[in-house]
Amino acid sequence: MQLQVEVSLGSRSYRVLIGPGVLKMLPELARQNALGSSYAMISDTNVAPLYSKTLNDTLKNDGFRGTVITVPAGETSKSLQQVENVCQQMVEARLDRGSFVIALGGGVIGDLAGFVAAIYQRGIPCVQAPTTIVAQVDSAIGGKTGVNLLAGKNLVGAFHQPSFVVADTETLRTLPEREFNEGFAEIIKHAIIRDREMFESLEKIERETLEHLIARNVKIKAQIVSSDERETSGERAILNFGHTIGHAIENAAGYGRYLHGEAISLGIAAASTISMRAAGLSAAERERIVERLQQFGLPTKLDASVSMEAIMKALLSDKKFVDGNVRFVLCPKIGEAFVSSDVTLEMIREAIDGLRHRHL
Ligand SMILES: NC(=O)c1ccc[n+]([C@@H]2O[C@H](COP(=O)([O-])OP(=O)(O)OC[C@H]3O[C@@H](n4cnc5c(N)ncnc54)[C@H](O)[C@@H]3O)[C@@H](O)[C@H]2O)c1
Ligand SMILES: [Zn+2]
Repeated sequence: MQLQVEVSLGSRSYRVLIGPGVLKMLPELARQNALGSSYAMISDTNVAPLYSKTLNDTLKNDGFRGTVITVPAGETSKSLQQVENVCQQMVEARLDRGSFVIALGGGVIGDLAGFVAAIYQRGIPCVQAPTTIVAQVDSAIGGKTGVNLLAGKNLVGAFHQPSFVVADTETLRTLPEREFNEGFAEIIKHAIIRDREMFESLEKIERETLEHLIARNVKIKAQIVSSDERETSGERAILNFGHTIGHAIENAAGYGRYLHGEAISLGIAAASTISMRAAGLSAAERERIVERLQQFGLPTKLDASVSMEAIMKALLSDKKFVDGNVRFVLCPKIGEAFVSSDVTLEMIREAIDGLRHRHL
């Protein structure tokens, strides 16, 4: 079944199509959206061999001209070097201001290709074609694009909303188990901050009707993004639940130890502990959150090799801490969240320590 969600952002509004086979609709949607006739399809070394040829052929048969640019799979491709490399290849392929970018892959490709689209010749349209759960429910929606610096994740970037999003659930069939489960960290996050009923429903998931679950998550993200496109009113900040500590762990652990969603799982567990102390979350609800994470094989106990010093150092270099004002997302009960300025570094330290010592 094909489902559709609208992201309402005035003149920057766009559609998200979700379901098996929606990639085939890309040429038609490109026309409807008055995109140009040439494109750069940006993908990675895992996804390109699986899906780029069919999509490329479909576009060419439809009269489009384009090139496929493949970067190495993995987080390290979210770099300024890779931005330069991709832009260089786009120049060589004679792509200009009338061209568009197709981001075919997971969140890494979405963030990299989206950023390239935001800056190539001062900005060209981008189509997001997410192929992981993380990308379909989260990163492809909302217009945040960017790359990492050695100093930390996503430190360079731009807001660049896509022209449309095609989330083909068929592509999720080839996703390895670990990456499939990783996506549930973001789904559980959405459930915790906005949708108690979805939280309950996660106890049993059916792969056959995954598009409904994905669409429900896209709706949550779309609604929050619509009300606060550039994270100025605070509304969008609630999407950072579990991410302040999660990102710090991701950075401190170093490349390859934790997938994004795995680090976020640890961040959610820690943020739930802080929520007990600072927002009145009950111990029973925190327990349910931890159980839900574990149900998807997500970590809730921190690896001993990741030092507290490294995590605190990463935490303090986080964009959210730049002005010294800690804005932390708390959950008073499953389904609700708010941004608080009452969380101290000491509380954060204790919660991280708890991830190591407490038996979960
Ligand atoms: N912009 C945002 O708002 C936002 C939100 C959440 C996450 N992110 C970013 O997204 C990234 C994580 O995304 P991700 O988890 O999708 O990682 P990813 O893009 O690295 O994909 C995970 C792995 O799966 C492979 N893969 C992707 N699709 C596949 C498929 N259909 N079949 C087989 N293999 C496939 C990839 O090659 C990669 O090895 C992080 O960099 C994170 O910062 C951004
Ligand atoms: Zn995330």
